Amino acid sequence: MASVFRDHLLTGKNAFVTGGGSGIGQRMAERFAEHGASVTLAGRKQEKLDAAAAIIRSSGGTAATCALDVRDYAAVEAALQKTRDQFGEIDILVCGAAGNFPAPVVGMSANGFKSVIDIDLLGTFNTCRAAYAHLRKPGASVISISASHAFIPIAHQAHVCAAKAGVDLLTRTLAIEWGPDGIRANCITPGPTDDTEGMRRLAPTPEIRHRVEQGVPLRRFGTKDELADLALFLCSNAAAYITGAVYVCDGGQSLVRSSLSLTETH
Ligand code: COA
Repeated sequence: MASVFRDHLLTGKNAFVTGGGSGIGQRMAERFAEHGASVTLAGRKQEKLDAAAAIIRSSGGTAATCALDVRDYAAVEAALQKTRDQFGEIDILVCGAAGNFPAPVVGMSANGFKSVIDIDLLGTFNTCRAAYAHLRKPGASVISISASHAFIPIAHQAHVCAAKAGVDLLTRTLAIEWGPDGIRANCITPGPTDDTEGMRRLAPTPEIRHRVEQGVPLRRFGTKDELADLALFLCSNAAAYITGAVYVCDGGQSLVRSSLSLTETH
């Protein structure tokens, strides 16, 4: 689907997107490419990255891929250097790589908890830390993909809640530390979003989907295009004075819930 923004807002820019091989990260990368940016898609599975890059290229965009695990600092650092060599300094960084599985705390091993913390929180740290040298200039922008888990306790999601709370505070701390370099850092907090792996797992039947929609003031799921347009806005000059913000794009869902159990939605 086309963007609501008409002009090419990112001509000459260079974007690096972790989690860019699928879902929300993929659509954000597509949007950046439509608006003139070169994009590098990073993620664990080369075949997913290749398919996503092919879609961008078939629409006339410029895309490269880097297969990596964001838990591996050296791999992230090497991928960013490769991107810099190929497309020049990096202007836009999206930290979208994430892992999730539903489990109560007592059904989760220490290693299971650590896996999600390592992918979501340490992975965001690794990506930002390694990208700093390439981002350090006015106009550069970091976007972390968070979740309402960061401020709403959700049963069976303790690992994600802890990780995303960390992602929000890490990103807002970067806004302070890197602001003097001209680097902005913001979070996007999606709600239930159509056509994503997370929602296929959490709302697998029409009945559950209906129940989730009834818990959203706008009474519908969000779309990946809406999140992509928000990301486009945040990394464009239209948001030149916005940093350290957490943009909740969830149809109002988090306004009406102070806690949530995954089993409630089932
Ligand atoms: N319930 C309980 N524990 C689970 C689990 C589940 N459903 N799935 C994985 N784990 C545990 C494993 O048992 C293991 O712990 P152990 O060594 O004590 O047995 C630990 O998590 C790591 O599992 P591993 O298979 O090595 O996966 P990983 O380290 O590569 O981590 C996950 C990846 C676990 C986060 C995986 O679920 C994932 O990547 N999911 C797909 C991504 C996704 O959900 N994206 C949408 C994000 S919103």
